[in-house]
Order: sequence, then structure tokens, then C-alpha cells
Amino acid sequence: MTDVTMPNDLESFWMPFTSNRQFKTAPRMLVAAKDMHYTAADGHAVIDGTAGLWCCNAGHGRQKIIEAVQHQVTQLDFAPTFQMGHPKAFEAASRLASLLPGDLDRIFFTNSGSESIDTALKIALAYHRARGEGTRTRLIGRERGYHGVGFGGISVGGIVTNRKWFGGLLTGTDHMPHTHNLAANAYTRGEPAVGADLADELERIVTLHDASNIAAVVVEPVAGSTGVLVPPQGYLKRLREICTKHGILLIFDEVITGFGRLGSSFASEHFDVLPDLMTMAKGITNGVIPMGAVGVREPIYQAFMQGPENAMELFHGYTYSGHPIAAAASIATMDIYREEGLFERAAAMAPYFEDAAHSLKGLPNIIDIRNIGLVAGIELAPRPGKPGARAYDAFVKCFEQGLLIRTTGDIIALSPPLIIEKHHIDEMFGILAKVLRELD
Ligand SMILES: Cc1ncc(COP(=O)(O)O)c(C=O)c1O
Repeated sequence: MTDVTMPNDLESFWMPFTSNRQFKTAPRMLVAAKDMHYTAADGHAVIDGTAGLWCCNAGHGRQKIIEAVQHQVTQLDFAPTFQMGHPKAFEAASRLASLLPGDLDRIFFTNSGSESIDTALKIALAYHRARGEGTRTRLIGRERGYHGVGFGGISVGGIVTNRKWFGGLLTGTDHMPHTHNLAANAYTRGEPAVGADLADELERIVTLHDASNIAAVVVEPVAGSTGVLVPPQGYLKRLREICTKHGILLIFDEVITGFGRLGSSFASEHFDVLPDLMTMAKGITNGVIPMGAVGVREPIYQAFMQGPENAMELFHGYTYSGHPIAAAASIATMDIYREEGLFERAAAMAPYFEDAAHSLKGLPNIIDIRNIGLVAGIELAPRPGKPGARAYDAFVKCFEQGLLIRTTGDIIALSPPLIIEKHHIDEMFGILAKVLRELD
């Protein structure tokens, strides 16, 4: 059997977050992947500057994960986890719990980042209710936040295009301001100096609604999808202090910052700030099988473990929560992270990556470069009256020349697999520099 590289029918698949009509006139197909590279349909190699969609942290085609999946699908293809169990889900949960900081020891499995966010918001609401503080129902997010596409996630999220089409959303949400400040912080390496005081906006929201009505605050430690916004120095610690002071749960959405992206296991560890709940997905299985998870601190879990033992403690779950194949993929992925020291490796590569990113300064149309760990954001000036067009052209040209980048508006984001070598970094930034030089 030969693999098809170009399908006969492009029409049936309604592609997500895609300009469908534009794409289908000139499709960009990926047909194979190994380590740091994809292969396009015409056979040309494309270096993966984005770990797929921020998920293939250990690179592509990892044998250990392939074998774990193959073995599991043969052994036990599916088993329910409602009032039943199977060993791999328990093993995956305890392995993950041991990786998480502090007492984030209880794991609820989902199938995606979006489901993880909805799960975390529901646990937060139910937690307060279980403790007799059922008035705490408000959920606070942040402008420019991205928390997936469920109604919970877009309600606390702050990306206007993801919200404005979909009606009234969840009631009782509010938003803190984002932390992006080009005037003060352009070309910062790592955490910007200006902006910790923006966390105090939470105090303003508390004054407006009263803490007794607020359940949780959710933020990405480093905002990714909105174009790589690194938190100002001290900002997350301040947010933690204000939440603790008012009994508000702090949720970190670590869907992209988890599993080594910043050169530590999780951003919480990197910034030394422990959230009450942590959402994860993507790197949890190296992108091989859909899976997400919510890490929950011990006292929150214990608040549910009251009442008669035959009562279900949380009326929530997915058919595929802790799916055997996802669990097997996740265990193998965590093995690779540990055996190859990939989080430490990301930390070791980060300074070289940072220098390479900032070496682009001065190229046409660049107005900011920012970075942390193995993440870089390169912001371009928009073409007058055509926001996003310049970065989109860069994206297409990069793909043609052998580099996969990700763009949001006029911001280019890079987040390569953690197995990256220095020569890959040179290759990536070499192609990007060439494209940016040629771009009008
Ligand atoms: C911070 C964050 N949260 C949630 C999500 C949603 O994850 P999924 O697409 O798996 O639902 C994403 C996806 O990029 C994300 O970056």
C-alpha cells in the first residue's frame, strides 16, 4: 500500500482555525515526520519550529511511544473509567502527580486543553459549593488569554475573534488587563521589568464584585496563542498573593508551558508560584494521542471526599478520561522526558535560542522580539489596513523554504521540540531571517 500524499477530495474536511477557501486553493500538506523534521507532500523537508502545535516536545516518531501505543491497543483497546478502572490510567496519574510541583497530587484526565479548562472551572465552582461558599461563582480571566474553545474557555479567554461570534457566553466572568507593553518592554530577554502592578487589577475586580462572589482566576503563566506574552517580573507571585488573601483559587493553564517548554517541568516551578489547579494537555502524550489533565491540590480534592462513601463526589467526566492508549502514550512520553533529561536540555539550549532570536533585531518590519525557555515571539509591524497579512506571508514563505512557524495576527511564535540541536536553531533562524529580508 502506498501512502496518499494528496487527497482527491479537499472539500469535506471543514478545517479548524483555517481560511478554508484560501487553503484549499494551495494546500500545504504534511505527510511524514521524524525527530525535528516534517516531510511535505512534494517531498521537501520542513524543520518543525513549533513542535507541531506546541505538543511534540520530544520530537517526532519516537519509538518508545509508538511501541507503547502498539502494545496497549493490542492488550486493552478501551475500558471505561466510570465505576471501573484499568491499571494504565492509575499509573499515568501517579507518574504525573510525582512530576507536578507541591501538593498538586490528584489528577483528573480529559482529552484536550479545552476540556481541561472546563474541568478546572467546574472543579473550582463545585469546591466552593462543597465547602458551603456557593456564592463564589464568578470566574476571572485575562484579556488576550487563550484557554481553548469550550464555552468555559472562551468566556474566561480574552481573544475577541474567538468570542464575538458565539453569543452571551458564560455569565459572571470578568477580565484582568493583559500585560503586553511594547513601549516599555520591547526587546526584553526573559521576563519584562515593567508591569507587575497589573496584577493589582485583580484587587480592583475584587472591590467591584466582592471576594465572596469570586471562585477562581485563570491565566496562562506565559500567554502563547496570543503571541508569546512573558509575564512581567513578580507579576505571577503578586497574583498568587492576592488570590490567597481573598480565598480565590488560582488556576494556571499550562497547556503549552508544561512538560519542559520553559526549561523546567512546569512554568509553576520556573516562576516558583504554586497554583491551586493546573491544566495540561499537548506535551502530556507528545501529541501522539489526544489527552489532557487537571492537577488538583490535595485540600481541594479532600473537600470533595465527604459524605457517604457510595456517593459520587464529582458529577463530571468524559468517556475517554484516562483512555488506555492515551495513558500508555503518556507514560512512555514521561519516560522519554526523564531518561533524556529533556527539560534540563531545554534549559541548556535556551540561551543559544535566545541569542539566535534576538539576532533578528534590525530586520525589516520587526518591532519586538521576546523569549523565554524555548519560546520566542517576533512581532512585525502590520501592513496598513491589512492586519495579519505580513505574518501570514512569512508563514507561507517559511513553509516553502523548509520551516514551520506559527503566526497570530502579526506575531510569529517559535516553540521547537526540546530535542533541538544548535545547528537546528541556526537553520530555523537562518530561514526566518532570509524570509523576513525578502518580505515587503
Ligand atoms: C493555554 C492553552 N489552553 C488551552 C488550549 C486548548 O487546547 P486544545 O486545543 O487541546 O483544546 C490551548 C491550545 O493551544 C492553549 O494554548
